[in-house]
Order: sequence, then C-alpha cells, then structure tokens
Amino acid sequence: MDELNKRERLKELYFKIKDCDKCELSKSRTKFVFGSGSACAEIMLVGEAPGKNEDLQGLPFVGQAGKLLDELLGSIGYKRSEVFIANVLKCRPPGNRDPKVDEVNICKGYLMEQIKIIDPKIICTMGRYSTQLLLNTDRGINGLRGRVYKMDNRIIMPINHPAAALYAPSRMDILRQDFQKIKNLIDSGGDLSCVNNEALNPENEVKTYKENKNEQLGLF
Ligand code: URA
Repeated sequence: MDELNKRERLKELYFKIKDCDKCELSKSRTKFVFGSGSACAEIMLVGEAPGKNEDLQGLPFVGQAGKLLDELLGSIGYKRSEVFIANVLKCRPPGNRDPKVDEVNICKGYLMEQIKIIDPKIICTMGRYSTQLLLNTDRGINGLRGRVYKMDNRIIMPINHPAAALYAPSRMDILRQDFQKIKNLIDSGGDLSCVNNEALNPENEVKTYKENKNEQLGLF
C-alpha cells in the first residue's frame, strides 16, 4: 500500500471510530485519542491508555511521559512525526486506573486495524498492557523487555513504559539501553535469524531475536 493510500485508510478509520461508545470510557472521556504520527512509519510505539493531558488534547503521550518519549526517540535520531504512537485504549480510564479486561477486548480491534494499515517493521510495546496484548502472553514485562520477538512477520520489542521510568529511576537506564537496542536493530537491517528457545506461544511462533550485526537481510 502506498503512502497516500495508508493516510487515506487511517483517516477513514479515524472517522469510523472517533465517536465510539462501545464501553463506559466513552462517557467520561473528553477526547478520543486515536494516535498520531506517520501513516507509513517503520516504527510504531504502543502505550497503555491516554492520561489527563492526552484526554484533554486528543493526542497520545503529551504529558511528562511524552516528553521523555520525545527525548528517547531523539536519542536514536527519530522525531515523533516519523513514527506512529498509539495506545491499547483510545479513551482515558477515570483517574488513570488500569484498563479493564473487557475494555481492552473492546478496544483492541482498533489498534489491530491501525497496525494492519501502517504495517510497521517494528512495534515497541511500552509497558505491560500493550506487551501482553501483542505478544498474546500473560508474562510480566520484566521478563520480556529488551528482547526481540517475531510475530506476524514483524518485530515486537517490549520496553518499559516511560511513565514507569519516571517513577523508578533505576528503570531509566534500562529504557535508554533498550532504545539503543532499537537503533542497533534498525542499523543492522533487522536481522531476523531466530532461535526457537523463547516460544511464548508456539502457535504464533514467537521467537527471540539472535543478534548478528554482520548479516543484512535487507528488511529495512
Ligand atoms: N501513558 C500512556 O500509556 N499513553 C499515553 O498516551 C500517555 C501516557
């Protein structure tokens, strides 16, 4: 699909879902937060749900966590406009409570549609909710982050949520290191040689990424 087509399809999706009232969150939201960035981004980053600032502005990651995310993206040479940023939930849970299972189940189709249209090479799942959803696992983020998984012919790289790094400085270094891993992955051409020792869900053939900087598979 070419760039124009992707933009048109994303716009169409936006107009189709922006007034969603399938769950309770539609009653308390100020704005629906679709996501933002480039329709033909090679990297997509997926967070949890809009917070207060996002709900007011209708844009993802515009608060403190967003500032950190901009800085981390900058550290690997990317602007926010060159990637696509979205969330598992499109509406703010009141008081920033955790998403409920039924809310995730209702909303996840929208994220899947976005992924299908944008077709990114790499999806960075930020935090537990997007990681568990996209890797189809209930394992915790600590055991998954910083590794690379292949799923549906694209790379999923779980990382800590930027907000978690703001609250726990020990996670900040880990997050910075994980962004460098993302850069290495892109620079190396995305070597997809996989070893099958980390199958989270054999049906989905989730595999770990074996680092091999000398081999270029020309995927990027
Ligand atoms: N945290 C998220 O997970 N998403 C946002 O958009 C903002 C904060």
